[in-house]
Order: sequence, then C-alpha cells, then structure tokens
Amino acid sequence: MTTQRTPRGVQRSLDLYQQALHLIPGATQLISRRPSRFAYGVSPVYAARAKGARVWDVDGNEYLDWMSSVGAIVLGYADEVVDAAVKEQIDASPIYTLNHEREIELAKELVRTIPSAEMVRYAKGGGEACTIAVRIARGMTGRDKVLFCGYHGWHDWYLAANLAPDDRLDDHLFPGIEPIGVPQGLAGTSYPFPYGDLPALERLLQQHAGEVAAIIMEPLRSERPPAGYLEHVRELATREGVVLIFDEVTSGFRPALGGVQEYVGVTPDMTVLAKAMSNGYAMGAVVGQRWVMEPASRMFISSTYWSDTLGITAALTTIRELRQRQAIAHIHHIGRLIKAGINGALEEAGLDAECAGADWHPSLHFRVTDPTLRQQVLTLYIQEMAKRGIIAPHAFYLNAAHTEADVARTVAAAQEAFVVIRVALESNRVAERLEAPIVSEPFRRLVT
Ligand SMILES: Cc1ncc(COP(=O)(O)O)c(C=O)c1O
Repeated sequence: MTTQRTPRGVQRSLDLYQQALHLIPGATQLISRRPSRFAYGVSPVYAARAKGARVWDVDGNEYLDWMSSVGAIVLGYADEVVDAAVKEQIDASPIYTLNHEREIELAKELVRTIPSAEMVRYAKGGGEACTIAVRIARGMTGRDKVLFCGYHGWHDWYLAANLAPDDRLDDHLFPGIEPIGVPQGLAGTSYPFPYGDLPALERLLQQHAGEVAAIIMEPLRSERPPAGYLEHVRELATREGVVLIFDEVTSGFRPALGGVQEYVGVTPDMTVLAKAMSNGYAMGAVVGQRWVMEPASRMFISSTYWSDTLGITAALTTIRELRQRQAIAHIHHIGRLIKAGINGALEEAGLDAECAGADWHPSLHFRVTDPTLRQQVLTLYIQEMAKRGIIAPHAFYLNAAHTEADVARTVAAAQEAFVVIRVALESNRVAERLEAPIVSEPFRRLVT
C-alpha cells in the first residue's frame, strides 16, 4: 500500500514567507513555527484553516497534524462546543469597563481541577504567566534569585541566566543563545539545574542559601523522573522556604486533568498554565496556594486583556469538555497506539530508533551517533511524512480529535518513510535524498 500523495506543492507558503522575512523580524512570532523546524520547501509554512486533527495550507493541501499547534489544541481544531461558547460571548462583547462574572467561575473550576490551586490570576500566554509567578514568588519572599529547570519563555528573568559566561541555558533552550537586550544588571539572578539530579539542586540551594525566591520547573515532559525525585524537590523547597512552581504550560491537561501534579501526586505551591487550557484561544493562568498567592494583591500585576472574556470562556468550556468527554483517556489510548505502531514500523524497516515517552506525549528518536547525520535523518523523516500529507515532528502533541484511523494512516506513511531512510542510510545517501535544508535543532531540554 502506498500513502504517497501528490500535494500541490507549497509555493504560496514560500512566497508568503519571503514577504514575512521582509516585514516581520524573524518572520514568525513563535520559534516553533519557523519553517527551519520543518522540511523547508516541502512542508507547509502557512495555514488557511483547520478542523479536528486536520489542517489545510494556503496552497490547498490537506494534512493530518500531530503537533496540535505546539500543544495548544487539546480537543481538536475549531472545536464546536468551545467555539459556540466563544461566539456567544463575542455577541455579548469580549471585554468591558467592568469585570465579568466568568472570571470567578473559571477560578472555581481551576480550584476544583488543579491540586495546588486555591487562588488564581490570569494572563494571556505561558511565558507571561511564568513571569507573573516569578514576580509573586520574589515579592512574597523578598528574595531575588530563581532556580529553574526547563523552558519558561522569553522574558528577562529567564534569559538572564545566559548573561553568565558559560551559556547556562544551553541545555534548557537553544545552544548558543545570546541574551541580547537583557539588562546586565540581572546577571546572577537565575540559575538552571539539571532535571533528575537532586544533589545538583541541593548544591545550588546551599550556594545561594537564604537568597532563592523560587524553584520553577517543568515537572515532567515525556519521561518519568527518577523515583522520588519530585517528592524530594518538594521537601527541599519547603525546608529552604523557597516557593515551588510547576510550569505546566506544556504538561497541563494531558497527563491528567490536574496536570503532572495530579498524575504523580506531588503538589507545588504555585502552578503555571497556558496552551491547552483554552483549546486555541489566548489564555494563561497562575494558580497557587492561598499563602503564596494572597500577597500578590499588594503587588503591581495588571493588564487590560487579562480579563478578556473570550480566553476565559474558552478555558472554562475546554476544561469542562475535557472532563465530560473523558478526553484524557482517549489521548493516552491514541498515544499507546502511536508508540506501538511506529515501533512496529521501525522494526519492520530495520531502523535503530524508538518511539517512547509518556502516553500523552510520545517522541521519536533516531539512534544515529553523528549529530549532523541525525539531524539529516530527522529532516528526511519530516520531509517524507509531509509529502504523505502528515505533519509529524519528532514529538507528538495529541488531541482528542485524533482517531485510530489517523494512527493507521500515520503508521502506513511512516513505514514508507522509514524504508526511504534505511535505504538512504545503507547507501550513505541521506544528504542526497534531502529536498530541504537540515532542520534546525529542536529545543534541547533537560526535561525530556
Ligand atoms: C513549559 C513551558 N513554559 C512556558 C512556555 C511559553 O509559553 P508561551 O509560548 O505561551 O509564552 C512554553 C512554550 O512552549 C512551555 O513549553
């Protein structure tokens, strides 16, 4: 069976990208939407519309999308229930001079859903919400320093770590990132710690004893931490009087409705949410225990669109729909099928690679020692899948609209792509098979 299709090409996407390069510094607003992350010239760059698990590009090609808008889509694109609620709210105006009751309704829903939540603040995105959480932690402890693990956005408090000469963010963001525009005065205020390494965190806490406001971390991305790790981090934070913040911007709402903290049974002091919480509408939240959140009432944390009722309505409806549809069980089921199917296809093709990780966020790793060749192989995979109408990066962000039939179609396409890769590897011709420049290195994270 061949899944090869003849897409119409992506010329309009490429033309638009050239215009964007001229008008928009960096061309895209999100690094993960840069065409250099895909197979440039083969993969689409601009979308026209999407529905469920499918997206149509500006050239009229249809794709099955396993990236779910980098995790923001959890029920499926253009979900009818969420969108109907938002449309109704549009007719009542998205925003007012006054506040809207639904802010309180969503707060109650979050308190019910997220184990660490007793009080709630809103934002419009993940990085912004992380920044609010760090501000609150600094404000309520009177301390300046932050220890972090993982990716937390683009703000100064985070990029300040790279003002140090040893490029501290290398293992957490992109290698070699320059903190251009970040004030030098912030040097020595944030320090990364490696995931799973308790002694390293203890050392940092000792080194900066009495000065650390917060430990902020992605608690789990795809691989389970060493046994007892998160429990020990919890104990250390309590012992040192440090606010423990779980950044669940990406992990939120997929492992369990209450996030990783519900899944592993470790409750932080504060939690950052965004992305999947509102199924495609701009929204973010900082939730936390009363003792840590309440002092925020005396801090200056304020913005006009944080009370926009569209994001709030979308979040409320999304969380309720996730619960009502039992979407998390479905997402985990699809994840298990993907892992089994892709691993079967890899074995059949005789490729040394594995699709592994958490059921809600599996990822594919090619075991190729040479890093350049590894990126070439990944590019070839993305290229061959794009040709077959599938947006398949190395990490899968699953949503409730993905079906067993989608898995079957993806596995069939992967079988063909893996044969192309195996033949190219055997004949030393991977570079020759590429119709695109090598994809730039994806986020390198200590949290896998
Ligand atoms: C864990 C984590 N924190 C923060 C962010 C930043 O969120 P946003 O892109 O909404 O600002 C991301 C985005 O990928 C993330 O994965």
